[in-house]
Amino acid sequence: MNTLQTSTPARLLYLHMGSKEPQRQIDFYQHMLDMHCESYADGSAVLKGPNRAVLISPADKHGLLAAAFALDNQSHQAQLRQRLEQKGCRVEDIASPLLETGSFSIRDPQGRETIFGVAQDLQLGELPGMPGRLQHVVFQTTELEAMVEFYVNTLGFTISDNVVDQETGKLMVCFLRSDDEHHTLAFFRGSKNEWDHHCYETNEWNDIRDWGDRFAKERINIFFGPGRHGPGNNLFFMVVDADKNRLEFSAELEMTTAEQAPGEWPQSEHTLNSWGRAWMRS
Ligand SMILES: [Fe+2]
Repeated sequence: MNTLQTSTPARLLYLHMGSKEPQRQIDFYQHMLDMHCESYADGSAVLKGPNRAVLISPADKHGLLAAAFALDNQSHQAQLRQRLEQKGCRVEDIASPLLETGSFSIRDPQGRETIFGVAQDLQLGELPGMPGRLQHVVFQTTELEAMVEFYVNTLGFTISDNVVDQETGKLMVCFLRSDDEHHTLAFFRGSKNEWDHHCYETNEWNDIRDWGDRFAKERINIFFGPGRHGPGNNLFFMVVDADKNRLEFSAELEMTTAEQAPGEWPQSEHTLNSWGRAWMRS
């Protein structure tokens, strides 16, 4: 089977957030994440930093409007689009300030929007600032099995690890990859359908220290971590942005091969944080 990893690798490029107070959110990403802002007439803003980008638009409520994945070239873009259309997935053309022409968007069965396209020549890697590549996005869902089915069988993500409740045998978390990194997307079983968090991958543990010190200066407290996740084996901590969206800083995320079979972990605090207490979604 053709997967994203084997035929059209996809990396998270930017997130499109909605905000009731966009200027406060813009200030946060400019000041805390070393991002530069370009504003548009409709009130939206694009923020760019080293290997990270965020689009912020005024909205009735806070949250994620779309996650955008970059493909390597136009040929992969055409190939993926054709594959999705053959599977009966409704594909819509979109115009994005960060993507070349031909980018498109799809919606999952619960309405989440995912964008695929080829990144414009943005030179994001050349921008100054602390290291942290936008790397993964995670959701809570009331329909975990249906989401896994869609993202694997229609979109072509690959399961890296499952977390399973040992008593009931129920799937609780699924980590999905779209290239060689352990996960670019994950879903937690939850009582609500909400955006769980997004993550910036740094170069090493000392970067985690430096980000921690930066948030400490602003009296923004870590609410989860520092620790090490079982699935993905990455070091991490989490804080919230101005809208209380959760963001994570990570290092040492595991790499995979295309042949790697899904792993299984028990649902426990130790799985989600082998160093100590974990934030258990409910
Ligand atoms: Fe994460």
